[in-house]
Amino acid sequence: MMIGKRLADELNKQINIELFAAYQYFSMAAYCEAKSLDGFASWMKVQAQEELSHALKIYDYLIDRGATVTMLAIEQPKVKFNSVLDAFQTALKNEEDLGTRFNELSEIAREEKDNITYSFLKWFLDEQVEEVALVSSVIDKLKLIGDNGYGLLMLSNELGQRQPEPTAE
Ligand SMILES: [Fe+2]
Ligand SMILES: [Fe+2]
Repeated sequence: MMIGKRLADELNKQINIELFAAYQYFSMAAYCEAKSLDGFASWMKVQAQEELSHALKIYDYLIDRGATVTMLAIEQPKVKFNSVLDAFQTALKNEEDLGTRFNELSEIAREEKDNITYSFLKWFLDEQVEEVALVSSVIDKLKLIGDNGYGLLMLSNELGQRQPEPTAE
């Protein structure tokens, strides 16, 4: 069954939003890289890859449902940060906005009586809860560390251990 135009347009836009999220994480990675905080940078690059995989998941779904996919212009992300904490707070705001966005998309799927898309979106709703929790826990630690350079390096090294997740299907 072909997907309706309203949902197809919204999901097409969501591909762009996920790509923007990846772009934002790359921007934060570059900021950390410039400060030689390689662990934080590596963590953010893993996060960026996850966002790319989200974009691809939606792309594949639209193709499967017979929609035409159109790439839109990607907005420039924030490029200047005051601190690592500032970078993570930018990430948190972005993840929270994404949660709200998926909530809206689910509402639209319900209005359009498209149960397939509604169930497709469930994964993203759960994912956003995890993402917000993950970024929040880093922010809590950064607040404890404050201006302590040694603490910052320790946390950077810890987060740098994170491996990219095997791509889920
Ligand atoms: Fe995402
Ligand atoms: Fe995310």
